Amino acid sequence: MKPRIICDGVELVGAVDWNRRLFDALIPLPDGTSYNAYLVKGSEKTALIDSADPVYQDEMMGQLENVERIDYIISNHSEQDHSGTIPAVLKKYGNAILICSPKAKAMLVEHLNVSVDRIKTVEDGETISLGNKTLRFIMTPWVHWPETMVTYLPEDKILFSCDFFGSHLATTDIYSGNDAYVLEAAKRYYAEIMMPFRKTIQSNMKKVRELKFDMIAPSHGPVHNQPELIMSAYEDWISDKVSNLVVIPYISMHGSTEKLVNHLMGALVELGVKVQKFELSTTDVGKLAMSLVDAATIVIGTPTVHVGPHPSVFSATHLANALRPKLKYAAIIGSYGWGTKAAEQLTGLIPNLKVEALGTVMCKGYPNDEAIKAIEALAKTISEKHKLL
Ligand code: FEO
Repeated sequence: MKPRIICDGVELVGAVDWNRRLFDALIPLPDGTSYNAYLVKGSEKTALIDSADPVYQDEMMGQLENVERIDYIISNHSEQDHSGTIPAVLKKYGNAILICSPKAKAMLVEHLNVSVDRIKTVEDGETISLGNKTLRFIMTPWVHWPETMVTYLPEDKILFSCDFFGSHLATTDIYSGNDAYVLEAAKRYYAEIMMPFRKTIQSNMKKVRELKFDMIAPSHGPVHNQPELIMSAYEDWISDKVSNLVVIPYISMHGSTEKLVNHLMGALVELGVKVQKFELSTTDVGKLAMSLVDAATIVIGTPTVHVGPHPSVFSATHLANALRPKLKYAAIIGSYGWGTKAAEQLTGLIPNLKVEALGTVMCKGYPNDEAIKAIEALAKTISEKHKLL
């Protein structure tokens, strides 16, 4: 695609990646993604904000074919999907200066082999003038790397936020409008990479709230031209508030664990508790991550494989621990044939989850009356806890 105009002197460049289905060889991208960069042309200087994934270097450089001069390249974030084409831009524009946060300097050198002579670091709140346009740099660390910053263009009231407020969404739309699906994609993105840094993002949001802008231009997904929608959504996700929701990731090999899971789900629903269950051999882990943004309780369901939990449950539990959701309660249920250490091993996998353990129900063989009663007692305990939320 050719550069597309956002407003006078600001153009959207970069690439839409319709076919990418996995990020970091881990995160599902059901809707593809985009790598947005922005060309800001002032009366005296021109800046390029971020770049594109190196896979799309030719497309991006083609978009710059008729751009005679770039004075500044702004790197809001050093990850390669935004910085990977910077070396090519620096090569073409031999006088361009690469602007980044102090922490990004070493990362850009290490990841991209950029010469330190081309880099100028900026401090929180520092500005550069493009003539009739100004770029102000705001340090917003840990969205989702330590060096991240956002760039504010006050004259046009645009915040260039890179990953922050972004969504993995391939679309020809420039703007999000009030499309609820953009918010869902943004929630998925938040859940998968931002959630571990929720507390730091709370501080970043306060800084961003002090700015006046009409648009948030992220480097993935459409531009938010109704920014209050994404701002409010983020404030909800990063808040300490949890919802009356139990998330159950589980695997069942011969139906025993599934029987426990389904009985627990039914009992919880009767007690007025919402449940989302995820069968881990078929589920999209992004969906599981999204459900953990708000849930009050996680119940992990596993059969026993060689004394321990099923490997898929092991992996999902490790992921949940890494994502640090704001869960308050946890329980483990499952089954075994002759012996098990599955519950103990799973408990050892979740040190980051500051949860109250509500119990373990492990049944030998197919669930008998005693196991079913234990599940009903667990449901009652969960519902009582949730009444206090
Ligand atoms: Fe879109 Fe953290 O890179």
